[in-house]
Amino acid sequence: MASPERGMWGSRMGFIFAAAGSAVGLGNIWGFPTQVGQGGGAVFVLVYLFCVFFVCAPIFISELILGRRTQRGAVGAFAALAPKTKWWMVGALGVMCGVGILSFYAVIAGWTVAYIYFTAVGGLGSSADEVSAFFGTFTASGPLTVGLTLGFLLVTAACILGGVRAGIERVTKTLMPLLIVLLLILAARALTLPGAAEGLKYYLRPDFSRIFDVNVLTAALGQAFFSLSLGMGALIVYGSYLNPKDNLGVAALWVILLDTAIALLAGFIIFPTGFSIEGFDPSTGGPGLIFTVLPQLFATLPGGALFGSAFFVLLAMAALTSTISLLEVPVAHCIDEYEWTRKKAVVVLIGVTFTLSIPSALGNGAVASLSNFSAALGGNFLGLMAIVWNNYALPIGGFLISIFVAYRFGLPKAIEELTAENAWFPSTGLWGFLIRTVSPAAILLIFLSAIWPLFS
Ligand code: PHE
Repeated sequence: MASPERGMWGSRMGFIFAAAGSAVGLGNIWGFPTQVGQGGGAVFVLVYLFCVFFVCAPIFISELILGRRTQRGAVGAFAALAPKTKWWMVGALGVMCGVGILSFYAVIAGWTVAYIYFTAVGGLGSSADEVSAFFGTFTASGPLTVGLTLGFLLVTAACILGGVRAGIERVTKTLMPLLIVLLLILAARALTLPGAAEGLKYYLRPDFSRIFDVNVLTAALGQAFFSLSLGMGALIVYGSYLNPKDNLGVAALWVILLDTAIALLAGFIIFPTGFSIEGFDPSTGGPGLIFTVLPQLFATLPGGALFGSAFFVLLAMAALTSTISLLEVPVAHCIDEYEWTRKKAVVVLIGVTFTLSIPSALGNGAVASLSNFSAALGGNFLGLMAIVWNNYALPIGGFLISIFVAYRFGLPKAIEELTAENAWFPSTGLWGFLIRTVSPAAILLIFLSAIWPLFS
């Protein structure tokens, strides 16, 4: 039963804004360009788009169906639909993903907060080398980055304690449109820089020789899951607050389109700007890519300091609406399954997450043994966390969700929920086909190709 500690969205638009708030975040603006740079440019973009629309979109809809049908969190939804089986473990994996992803996400979110100040007061340096050296020195400062991480987690906790509607909907409704406007202005400026054409070529003209490169495939799949907040039950939780009268399928498609558009837009800012800088190599930017490239773009704008600072304010807010949903999965779980109060759940989970975030914060130069991993292990502790959770845990969760909906819960009941109250949906037949075959098969094939070298 829905407990009074739960809640419900104010309206369908409220849901769209909240789900978009979860999806749009560092994944789009920090993660996507970083991954495109490491994945060889346009070929990564192509594989990414395939993953979003043919693999992830059907699973996105499935998560919402499970949530609205059961009115439960990630674990509870499986327990309700398949009692006395082990399916609840899919939800448990999601609860762990929430804590795991939040632990490194909050570190980067902390960096964005610091950059609000740094870009406003200046002093980042003017040459590309100076700007990167500044980033290196800043991220290597242990106490500062740990403190920023804790601060970000505490703000997230405060928002969650405000409850569902008040906390999430309001923030996103006002700030998301502003973020989009600012991104459009930045893209317009970036595209008129000298060297922009070179950047566009890199971003849009694929090198097909890498299309079956397993590193590109796994990274693109993981990035698609991460960016859409998919595979860990965040959308089961958000779906459980969805009104039965709302058109679930259409709302899902809007959120997916918006999330993808914002990621693509970020690429139109970073690559033209990057290629306008002497000696720029997108593949070596790593997690610092946006922090080192964007200040150079702000420098070319009148009122650049103000612009840059406003950009990082909006990015931090976008990150906040995502950390809220990351924390909401384990919080909803503890409320539903252990009957904890919201407050107790938030306090305990923030404590666990903060502890786990410390090595990610210290692995960027502050502590050498956490900072120098091989490239295959993500380069440092934070990179390793991103690989484990984004590239493996989320797609495994997504795979199991697709199998559950297609073969255990069953397509007839799923379609009944998708089209409840005569809701319109473009093609339930196509959705059924994708969730039964394409989504699980694609994830399985990409995984098999990733682990194949270990056996051959
Ligand atoms: N989608 C968010 C982003 O792009 C991150 C996230 C992942 C949020 C998983 C919730 C669940 O920043």
